[in-house]
Amino acid sequence: MDITMAVVLVLVLGLLMVKFALFQPRNPNSPPCISGWIPWLGAAFQFGKAPLEFIEQARVKYGPIFTVFALGNRFTFVTEEEGIEAFLTSKDIDFEQAVQQTVQRTTSVPAEIFYLNHSRLYSMMKGKMGTSRLYLFARTLCQELHEHMDYLGIAGTENLSDLIRSVMYPATVNILFGKDVCPTNKSDIKEFEEHFQKYDEDFEYGSQMPEYFMRKWSKSKKWLLKVLEKVVADAERANPSESNSKTLLQHLLDNLHGKHLAPNYALLLLWASQANAMPVAFWTLAFILSHPSIYKNIMEDLVSVFGKAGKENIEVSEDDLKKLILIKWCTLEAIRLRSPGAITKKVVTPIKIQTFTIPTGDMLMLSPYWVHRNPKYFPDPETFKPDRWKEANLEKNAFLDGFVAFGGGKHQCPGRWLAIMEVHMLVVLFLYKYEFILLDPVPKESLLHLVGTQQPMGACRVRYKLRQ
Ligand code: HEM
Repeated sequence: MDITMAVVLVLVLGLLMVKFALFQPRNPNSPPCISGWIPWLGAAFQFGKAPLEFIEQARVKYGPIFTVFALGNRFTFVTEEEGIEAFLTSKDIDFEQAVQQTVQRTTSVPAEIFYLNHSRLYSMMKGKMGTSRLYLFARTLCQELHEHMDYLGIAGTENLSDLIRSVMYPATVNILFGKDVCPTNKSDIKEFEEHFQKYDEDFEYGSQMPEYFMRKWSKSKKWLLKVLEKVVADAERANPSESNSKTLLQHLLDNLHGKHLAPNYALLLLWASQANAMPVAFWTLAFILSHPSIYKNIMEDLVSVFGKAGKENIEVSEDDLKKLILIKWCTLEAIRLRSPGAITKKVVTPIKIQTFTIPTGDMLMLSPYWVHRNPKYFPDPETFKPDRWKEANLEKNAFLDGFVAFGGGKHQCPGRWLAIMEVHMLVVLFLYKYEFILLDPVPKESLLHLVGTQQPMGACRVRYKLRQ
């Protein structure tokens, strides 16, 4: 046998072995598995190219429960009632184990410190940002937003995302970290924001890939951690004894084990507080401006609460926001339509869903983006219909059935009510102060990321001018 023949034989045998390893007869109790041809990598390429489309196509082809094998992991998606219920309530799945590696890769917090701190920090945040304490943020948030809106001048043309970021980013950082604790002067804030944007843009890849492949991202992460060292030291020095006077960062420092990792936790808080709220504010305003009758109704509501538009720096209380319910519905509807691609929990005891048993070690996955497109929960799901939120008991802080943008069960996002208030307040102040005209069509969502709120695919310019 010549050498070429031998190589061909070895290759064929190798492929057969791989095929055998990957395509063993399926256990009838396991969900159908999409595993690709390449060992370990599995379906990573097809999945990674267009993850959200992949999930929907797989649901259509394989049914409501299916597994994707990629990068050595099994990701089992649940897409309908029983699976969603299990994802939100089952004791056989674990949030901490699902996110630990992401936290380690993105913030360099080691596993043992993460597990030591997580539940205490979560309870602290849930308490400090709960609905009964929002009033503590409302006044300063309003002042901060005004202060940063003043830099916009009387008129201009700008990409809507940039316009929102220039106001919302410093305002919300200041309410959570303390006034001027993070860099705020014009040139410092620009550099800080640039690094943060880089960190945010590639957060998802950074959470999956070794740092070696993420040089630029890793540089921005280190830059931010360095600056946050000083931020944390300043916050520690100024830490007041009165609990209501403390910032969220100071509460975090009080509750943290492993003080040397305080900058890393500050980075995590910074990312969690900004990465979703800013795109949500973008979509909310973009949807309002592109629906003239909704825009008109909102302007009438604003005038009925604050009088003729154009007054200087109105003070907006939590009670005023309650009267402006249509803007809150628009915020929730924007969140519904642009929700995270997937949230995850790790199976720790085999879990039975429908006729399938999902084995220990699987990552159980739920896609808020697709659940929110299920007409069973949201009739006419692709349409921006703020009115549908009339049915939600928002007075009792309940969302609509099937709304899972903030996760669900024990580990729902602790910042959800604050996030909604931030966007609500920003939209009130922007629309009351300025008249806006959209210069571009509202962009489509990029559908490229599983983590976090969907980003716009391309720019959307607006012209704004002060109302007289
Ligand atoms: C509209 C904006 C927001 C959205 C859509 C959002 C969404 C989420 C989601 C989906 C999770 C994971 C829940 C799970 O997997 O079950 C989460 C966790 C978290 N969010 Fe938010 N979030 C938003 C705003 C905020 C804000 C403003 C803050 C802080 C001020 C915040 C702080 C956090 C934290 C600390 C966690 C981790 C909770 C844990 O470790 O258990 N989020 N958020």
